[in-house]
Amino acid sequence: MRAGLSTRIFLGFLLLLLVFAGASALAVRRMHAIREDLVIIHRGYLALARLGTQARTLQEAREATVARALATPDPTVRRQLLASGREGGHGRELRERLDELEALTRQLLAGRARPADHTFLERVLTEVGAARTASDGYDEATARAAEMGAEMGAEMGAEMGAEIGAGPGDDPAAAALLADELRHAGEVLSERMRSLGVGIDGKVSEAVLRAERDEREAAYAVVVLTVLAALVGVLVSFATIRALRPLHDLVESAKAIGKGSLDVQVAVPADDEVGALAREFNAMARALKDREAVLASRGDELLRMSGFAENVIRSVRVGILVIDERGCVRTLNPGARSVFKLPLVDVDGRPLAELIDEGLQEPLAPLLQGLDAVRTSGEPMAFPLLRLSDKVVDVGLVPIRDRAGASQPDVLVLAEDVTSREETAERLLQTERFAAIGRLAAQITHEIRNPLSSVGLNIELLGDDLAHLPPERHREAKAILDAVGKEVDRLTQITEGYLRFARLPAPKKVAGDAGDLLADLVAFTQADATKAGVMLELNVEPGLPHVPFEPARLRQALLNLVRNAVEAAGRGGTVRVSARRTAHGLRVTVEDTGPGIPEEVRARLFEPFFTTKPSGTGLGLLLAKEIILEHQGELSVETSALGGAAFHVDLPAELEVALAPPPA
Ligand SMILES: Nc1ncnc2c1ncn2[C@@H]1O[C@H](COP(=O)(O)OP(=O)(O)OP(=O)(O)O)[C@@H](O)[C@H]1O
Ligand SMILES: [Mg+2]
Repeated sequence: MRAGLSTRIFLGFLLLLLVFAGASALAVRRMHAIREDLVIIHRGYLALARLGTQARTLQEAREATVARALATPDPTVRRQLLASGREGGHGRELRERLDELEALTRQLLAGRARPADHTFLERVLTEVGAARTASDGYDEATARAAEMGAEMGAEMGAEMGAEIGAGPGDDPAAAALLADELRHAGEVLSERMRSLGVGIDGKVSEAVLRAERDEREAAYAVVVLTVLAALVGVLVSFATIRALRPLHDLVESAKAIGKGSLDVQVAVPADDEVGALAREFNAMARALKDREAVLASRGDELLRMSGFAENVIRSVRVGILVIDERGCVRTLNPGARSVFKLPLVDVDGRPLAELIDEGLQEPLAPLLQGLDAVRTSGEPMAFPLLRLSDKVVDVGLVPIRDRAGASQPDVLVLAEDVTSREETAERLLQTERFAAIGRLAAQITHEIRNPLSSVGLNIELLGDDLAHLPPERHREAKAILDAVGKEVDRLTQITEGYLRFARLPAPKKVAGDAGDLLADLVAFTQADATKAGVMLELNVEPGLPHVPFEPARLRQALLNLVRNAVEAAGRGGTVRVSARRTAHGLRVTVEDTGPGIPEEVRARLFEPFFTTKPSGTGLGLLLAKEIILEHQGELSVETSALGGAAFHVDLPAELEVALAPPPA
């Protein structure tokens, strides 16, 4: 997984820190080594060199003294000089220097000397020991020389031997040997001292060279590491700047969003914190844009709705007025202006009482008083059918409430001009009355026309038959026929009289056997059917339930159906009248073998005055239906199994009658 930005920056700076720390540590270590070199040079090798030089100088001085002693003729002086050379200043000082050399060397060995130095110092110790042995040898030779000055002088040369030979008993050969020994000891010691001095000097030079090299290397390493650290620093800074560069874009984009341009999207750099920030920023910008779009559309919707509401208020015919707590008009629509006859301008903010026309002041006085009552009580008030000069107006005062239901000081006045509605209602009432009379007249005309015309026909037939009667019977019969004719006329007048009444009396229903009624009906129409060449069948199920009906009216309805069926069946046709029990009562069916009812006719069957017959009124089925409805029954039509139409009359049974077992 890729490390986060902060982790990467931290690691970069940690690396930088480590490189710097490494450079510093290296520099310190090198400086420390150089310092140790310098210390060992200064306190060790230089001191050793100084002591070595001093020892050499002392040895040289001692040798010079011994040479001077040997050259001295006076044996006493010579002896003193030799003695002083051995025990006095130079010899002792030389030993002291050698001791110091040894002590210092041991001290250096005990210190933190390098392995190479160790070897060298061991060698110095050896050299010092050898030098001391040589010095001791020289001392011994010097002492013996002091005692044997004569022999020495003889060995060294005639003159010199003579000078040394200080006393009797001295052996010149021994003296010569001793002189050799002394010279040899001196050479050995000098050689030792020289070797020591050369070794120490060499070591000093080596140490100085090494210190120089160390210093050079340290400087080089420090420079290299510093350059490396600087390089790492530059790289880390570059990487940090590169990683943080998208932040700048983000800031600029945020400013752009602040200024309202919501289309900005920043490039998503890497999968780190800045990348996540950029992604979130883009999502936020998108969300802001979406929200702005929603807000804009809601704003538009709001504007549209408020415009719509305004249009609705302006367009409705109902007058709408808002009256504030001082009784002044806050707002109103053209409807209110028209209902209350308010001026066209300067209405807003003025008291309603001042704006109302003088002629309307009196009828509107209760309304003006009602404003305060509605405001204080919070209950609406209605002023129905106020007569304002030429208008009739329904006015309502409604307290305005906020969402929480608290009353506001404003009162809404709703005023509807109902003048035309009132007029229309009156007209409607009249029309209905006329329609009722018309329907009644039609019913009566239809109900009475047929029997009256039959009666009239029969009177005419009887009148023809009268000719065959004897004259006295003829007169009598004619008188009777005239009387009947007059009755028919009177009935016609009664029909006219009916027209003056608004409605028919309600049917007087009694429970009865519909089978009897059907038998009667078929017997009554049999003659007409036979005349028309139609066979009439009756098919009544035994034990029909008793249903409530008014025999005369139901007979009238069924008669209309049978007549239609006979007319439709035509010559050679059949009409079947049947009755059967149903779940709710009984069903009478009148069906025929006629052509049936086409669809367009079926749709208009019950329209008043709809007929397809040249002499028909188009009222038969309408009347039948109304009578059946009066009996809470139903009239329906379908295609008959006989091929023609089948009209069903469903009549409901009275409960107790319907459920009673059929009479035995
Ligand atoms: N059994 C039937 N078969 C076919 N058509 C019928 C039948 N009964 C009624 N119609 C159609 O319905 C129409 C309306 O009948 P309705 O009884 O209302 O008036 P009408 O018979 O035309 O006139 P009126 O009854 O005054 O003699 C008829 O003209 C006829 O076209
Ligand atoms: Mg008819």
